Amino acid sequence: MSDHIRITPSILNADFSRLDEEIARIASVSDFIHLDVMDNIFVPNFTFDFDAALKIIKSSPTPIDAHLMVADVDQIAIQYAEVGAASVTIHAEATSDISSTLKGIRSHGARAALAVKPSTSIESYSEFVDRVDMFLIMTVEPGFGGQKFMESMMDKVRTTKKLIGSRPIWLQVDGGISLETIEIAVEAGADTFVSGSAVFKAEDPAKMVIALRERAHSAKLHL
Ligand code: DX5
Ligand code: ZN
Repeated sequence: MSDHIRITPSILNADFSRLDEEIARIASVSDFIHLDVMDNIFVPNFTFDFDAALKIIKSSPTPIDAHLMVADVDQIAIQYAEVGAASVTIHAEATSDISSTLKGIRSHGARAALAVKPSTSIESYSEFVDRVDMFLIMTVEPGFGGQKFMESMMDKVRTTKKLIGSRPIWLQVDGGISLETIEIAVEAGADTFVSGSAVFKAEDPAKMVIALRERAHSAKLHL
């Protein structure tokens, strides 16, 4: 797997009744499994409570990238790191103490990431650049899979890329990533790609992950 492009498929649109099998289908070709945790408060949808997420974290053969779309995220984010999520993403809009939450996540050996919704600017959070391992720029309104990619977010991706500079921080995009949109996101500077419905609606999800990676690589080569 490449050092420069990471594909982190979201299981939001997978078949929840046989999640182990769904994860097994893509595990060996994916860098991380992206787990969308929604509480029906921060976003108008519910996915997993902590116990259900914990089972997935413990049983997944591929490390878990936990995207927490929950209100008052500070304490629970640290718990996700404690139980073994490899990466924990908090929303800037849902935390009351960004620094100590990021620090708490890292203290358990997990990567700490900060996400912003489409209407939130990244400039307001530039001071945290030395405390994160990844920024997540949402390219849809969080809450549901299968929405249209917001190309208008590419300016924010470019701004974030500049902010990161030469630091080894990953830049993730999430929402509407498919074979049609991944190149645009690569060109703007993203290197880590969540893809939900494009992967799980494909006839062969693993092949789609590979195809997304190849397309991203070739876009990167042409930069
Ligand atoms: C949306 C989630 C995404 C979603 C992506 O709130 O954060 O991870 O599952 O799904 P697609 O790729 O279908 O937009
Ligand atoms: Zn997500």
